[in-house]
Amino acid sequence: MEFFVTTSRGLEECLAQEILDLGGQDIVTVPGGVALQGDPSMLLQLNLQLTTALRVLVPLAEGSCHNGNDLYDFALTIDWSEFIDSNGTLAVQCVGRGTEGLRHSRYASLRVKDAIVDQFRDRFGERPDVDRDMPQLAVHLHLRDEHALLSLDSSSISLHKRGYRLQSGPAALRETLGAGVIQYTGWDKRSPFVDFMCGSGTLAIEAARLALGIPAGSNREHFGYWGWNQSPDGSTLPGENDHLRFLAELPRTPKEEMPVILGFDQDPEMVDIAEENAERAGVSDFVKFEQRAVEDTKDLPDPLTHGVLICNPPYGERLGNEEDLKEVYSAIGDVYKQQGQGYHGFILTGNTGLAKSIGLRASRRRPIWNGPIECRLLSYELYSGTKRKKATAS
Ligand SMILES: C[S@@+](CC[C@H](N)C(=O)[O-])C[C@H]1O[C@@H](n2cnc3c(N)ncnc32)[C@H](O)[C@@H]1O
Repeated sequence: MEFFVTTSRGLEECLAQEILDLGGQDIVTVPGGVALQGDPSMLLQLNLQLTTALRVLVPLAEGSCHNGNDLYDFALTIDWSEFIDSNGTLAVQCVGRGTEGLRHSRYASLRVKDAIVDQFRDRFGERPDVDRDMPQLAVHLHLRDEHALLSLDSSSISLHKRGYRLQSGPAALRETLGAGVIQYTGWDKRSPFVDFMCGSGTLAIEAARLALGIPAGSNREHFGYWGWNQSPDGSTLPGENDHLRFLAELPRTPKEEMPVILGFDQDPEMVDIAEENAERAGVSDFVKFEQRAVEDTKDLPDPLTHGVLICNPPYGERLGNEEDLKEVYSAIGDVYKQQGQGYHGFILTGNTGLAKSIGLRASRRRPIWNGPIECRLLSYELYSGTKRKKATAS
């Protein structure tokens, strides 16, 4: 079966690696997602285990549509009764931009919804209802000029909603973005991981879940494909019981092998929120949050083989003013230089101007989109004294 997994721009490489690790075949990476082939039973693993996926789509049909009538006729070419009964529920989401006659995504999704309900009414005398929150069938329409692609959305609710983060700060990272950033740091899940500006705790919590081996979707109570009658190739789909059995059989890292994971923030309210989120995420025993400004950093643990120092400081867009932030960025640089020897340092920022105040030369600048904001994940090699001596001596 064919799948298309969506993600945030910049995380495609990480997502493709995760899919490869799960056994996906014929992987093709495009901006915003990864296409693959796999067995229908892969729906379970793709939805449950991918940490950087937003939605797992199952493409059904492609067509050429210039206006609402074309789109209506195109949607009628699919037999929707294969997936739900006439008393079921559905929702249609449209993304992208069609031709002049299909400019408005709301209109386009309405035309698809009309075609589906009319098909049911004509054949069975009754029609499914629309349920935007938790439909049995979530239909995904992608428009690019006259090109239309209809897919089933097997996730239905975006997979970044893991279910543990009930509260967050004004500039929290999506959980999927946090997980992707951690994987790009090359962290070995055994050395210390320190976030100096943890906010609602996303990076530290995702790090602990990755280290423990907790699947990304283990707290979720629903996946879209649980509502389908069958898979598009006619085979039986894994259901809620298969999901629970699969979860129960997954190995977990023993407590004694867990690394030191620390989260600091100067705002005590954010520290409380981070602690509550960690509790719900099942990792409160493995992450220590503390109220502390980056300027007051002291006593960092031994970096071991691949310790990571990271922070996602305010960019001056949603949080903070630029002049004050220059001092904050400069303080981060000082901590990395003076106390971070032997660690791998990272900063995720949407403000490359402010990043200059860090005063360190980045060895890599990886573009990653945080919603509409184009950010950079900046990497710094913070060599220890011995390494520096070796480098100078050679
Ligand atoms: C962009 S938010 C981090 C969001 C976080 N990654 C999340 O997902 O929730 C920046 C955080 O930096 C904190 N902060 C700002 N200046 C700080 C400083 N000097 N020391 C420590 N924390 C600071 C703010 O309180 C805020 O929570």
